[in-house]
Amino acid sequence: MKKSLSEQLLKWYAKSGRDLPWRIKGGAHPNPYAVLVSELMLQQTGVKTVIPYFERFMTRFPTIRDLASASLEEVYLYWQGLGYYSRARSLHTTAQMIVGEYNGIFPQNKKDVLKLKGIGPYTVASFLALAFNQPETAVDGNVIRVICRLYRLTEPVSEIMDVIRQKAEELTDRKYPADYASAIMDLGAMVCTPKNPQCLLCPWQEFCMSKGAADLEKIPNRAKLAKKKRCGRVYVICNSKGEVFIRRRTEKGLLSGLYEFPWCEEGELFSEYKIFATEKKVSHIFTHINLCLDIYTFQAEEISLDGVFVAPEALKDYPLSTLMKKVYRAFCA
Ligand code: ADE
Repeated sequence: MKKSLSEQLLKWYAKSGRDLPWRIKGGAHPNPYAVLVSELMLQQTGVKTVIPYFERFMTRFPTIRDLASASLEEVYLYWQGLGYYSRARSLHTTAQMIVGEYNGIFPQNKKDVLKLKGIGPYTVASFLALAFNQPETAVDGNVIRVICRLYRLTEPVSEIMDVIRQKAEELTDRKYPADYASAIMDLGAMVCTPKNPQCLLCPWQEFCMSKGAADLEKIPNRAKLAKKKRCGRVYVICNSKGEVFIRRRTEKGLLSGLYEFPWCEEGELFSEYKIFATEKKVSHIFTHINLCLDIYTFQAEEISLDGVFVAPEALKDYPLSTLMKKVYRAFCA
C-alpha cells in the first residue's frame, strides 16, 4: 500500500531532519522545560540565532526552579540581543507559576497551558506536541508555506487561515505528533524554502500541486504591510568621570525592562542643558515600525530622571537592547 503523506514526511525527517539542541528525534522531548525555553526563543527569532542563546540559557538556568528563583534582570542579561524582551519576562513568570502553582510539574492540558504567560495558541500546540506527543497542530510561517504550496492555495493568507489550519490538522500524524511537528517545520525551513525551494528533495513532490511551478515563490500570497517610520532623539549623557547615563525602561511596551539611553519621539527631554547634536543617527527595524534616532550628547553630573551613571566598560553588565548598543557604537565611532 502507498504510504500516507505523514508517513512519507516522517521517513524523510528521520533521515534528513535537523538535529537541534532542544530536540530529540523519535518522540516527545523528555524535558518539557527545554521545549518551553526553545519555543519562546523561537517565537520571533530564527533557529540559527537561537541555538547559542538556548545553550547559554540552559547552562545558566538548567531547571525550571533555577529560572524561577533567578532575578528578572539576570534573565534579561541572557536574553540580551534576542529582542522581543517581553518573551523573557513571560518565560520567567511562567517558570514561577509552574513552580508555585504546579510544584514544578508542567500541566499537560491545553486549558492550563494557555493560562501560562507568553503562550498563545501556536506555542500551546507546538509545546504539547513536542513535549508530550499530543496530536496538536502548530501552524507557523513554515507550515503555512508548505500547506499553501502543497494544495496550491493562492488566495491571500489572511483570508484563508481557516482552510490552511484545517488542512494542516488533517495531515498531522496521530501516532507520532512530536516528530511530525518537527518534520513539517524542517520541510519548510530546509526544502520548501521561501526562495529556491528544492522540490526534487521533497518527500511530498509526487502529491504537491505546485511542484516546480514558475510562480512557486509567490506562494503563499502575502500582501506586505508597509512599516511605519518613526523618528526621535537619543541622548548619550556623560559626566566628568567619563561615565554614561542609562535608565531602566518602564515595564510596558517596546523594549520594556531593559536599560537604555534616554530617548523620546517628540520634543526635547532635557531643555535645561546645553545639548550638542552629534550628526550621528541610528535606525532599527522592529516588527511594525522603523525607528530612526538622532544622537545628541551633553555633559552633566546629575540627571533628573531615575537612572545610573556607569563606566563604559560596565555597560555589558546591564541588559541593553540591540538598538541601544547600536546607539553607543555609533556614538563612539
Ligand atoms: N520554530 C518554532 N519551534 C521550532 C522548533 N521546535 N524547531 C525549529 N523551528 C521552530
